[in-house]
Amino acid sequence: MPEFVLITGGAGFIGRHLSAELLRRGYRVRVLDSLIEQVHGGGTSGAGMLPPEVEFQAGDVRDGAAVARALRGIDRVVHLAAEVGVGQSMYAVERYVSVNDCGTAVLFQQLIEAPVRRVVVASSMSIYGEGLYRTSDGGTAEEVVRRPRRPGEPWDPLDAQGQPMRPIPTPESKRPALASVYALTKYTQERLTLTLAPAYGMEGVALRLWNAYGPGQALSNPYTGVLAIFAARLHNGQPPMIFEDGEQRRDFVHVEDVAQAFALALEHPAAAGQVYNVGSGQDRTVREVARLLARAMGREGIEPELAGQARLGDIRHCIADIGKIQRELGYAPRRDFVEGLAELAAWVAEQQAVDRVAEARRELEARGLVA
Ligand SMILES: NC(=O)c1ccc[n+]([C@@H]2O[C@H](COP(=O)([O-])OP(=O)(O)OC[C@H]3O[C@@H](n4cnc5c(N)ncnc54)[C@H](O)[C@@H]3O)[C@@H](O)[C@H]2O)c1
Repeated sequence: MPEFVLITGGAGFIGRHLSAELLRRGYRVRVLDSLIEQVHGGGTSGAGMLPPEVEFQAGDVRDGAAVARALRGIDRVVHLAAEVGVGQSMYAVERYVSVNDCGTAVLFQQLIEAPVRRVVVASSMSIYGEGLYRTSDGGTAEEVVRRPRRPGEPWDPLDAQGQPMRPIPTPESKRPALASVYALTKYTQERLTLTLAPAYGMEGVALRLWNAYGPGQALSNPYTGVLAIFAARLHNGQPPMIFEDGEQRRDFVHVEDVAQAFALALEHPAAAGQVYNVGSGQDRTVREVARLLARAMGREGIEPELAGQARLGDIRHCIADIGKIQRELGYAPRRDFVEGLAELAAWVAEQQAVDRVAEARRELEARGLVA
């Protein structure tokens, strides 16, 4: 009998790709998802986009009875259900703490009654705050806090000599610096998982994800997924809008590589009790990414618009050290970035086609031209 995996929040962007990956690996998959409007309102996602073999249960992860039902017969859990906008978390505080932290608490309350073998939780790079930096004298700076920038100063954080520092890959050992409500809730989710799972005979694993991208990310959700937001702007002939000077560095990881990381975290014996970074291992500036995406979408004439202002709470640079997950679990990111952008561009174009088809069909129906 194949093992049965529950994915909370599994109807979302990562969950749908992970469902397909787990089915390929021979698991049975059940999804518990409340299909929140902010993610599923645009019509480009939802339970209907899940592979047909997935068993779908509609329900809120904060509802103990729904979680108890979803846990019946389950061997392993991947916990993805969450509110995911960093900026939005700073004003929708109650909602973020409720879904992310109380949701995880309710899940574990039910797991105490019905333990499983392993629980893997989705954490985030945002828990690091600023990543690790190299100072001008060759040292390492771990506790970098950005101070308000005076006109003419460099955007990069400065060291004690007043020199700009250079970002270097951030390993799991860097101390968290929780600069947003979202980061705080993600860290709580991690700690609840790594504290409670072993206390009740289960194995806990936390994955700290960098920026996932790929087909299927909610284009209509303006609070998350920088590439999806840029794609939606370019699609409408609008320039992507970038804060600061666009030279901030991130790691963009294809959603299929993220799915690979979750599958490994779910099954590899060495993962029990561990925390892993998940990225592509290649860092890029946000400006470069906006240009490459415009080219992939055939909109190379559209230059990104640089705000020249920093958004409060934004970090300057954070790039991933993925050595631990590569060494211990054999993770190997496979997707090339430029090819991934071409695939994203094709998917975005298809969304337009789908929308137009729906519109055209409504028109024909209104005119009595379809039966
Ligand atoms: N996409 C990224 O770049 C990224 C980066 C770091 C961490 N993560 C984490 O990975 C996970 C999945 O992210 P995603 O990009 O697929 O997000 P997503 O918004 O596409 O999916 C989240 C899913 O959770 C569901 N959900 C929300 N509240 C719920 C509730 N109360 N009960 C049940 N379901 C609920 C939503 O309906 C949605 O289907 C999240 O935990 C997120 O914090 C994602």
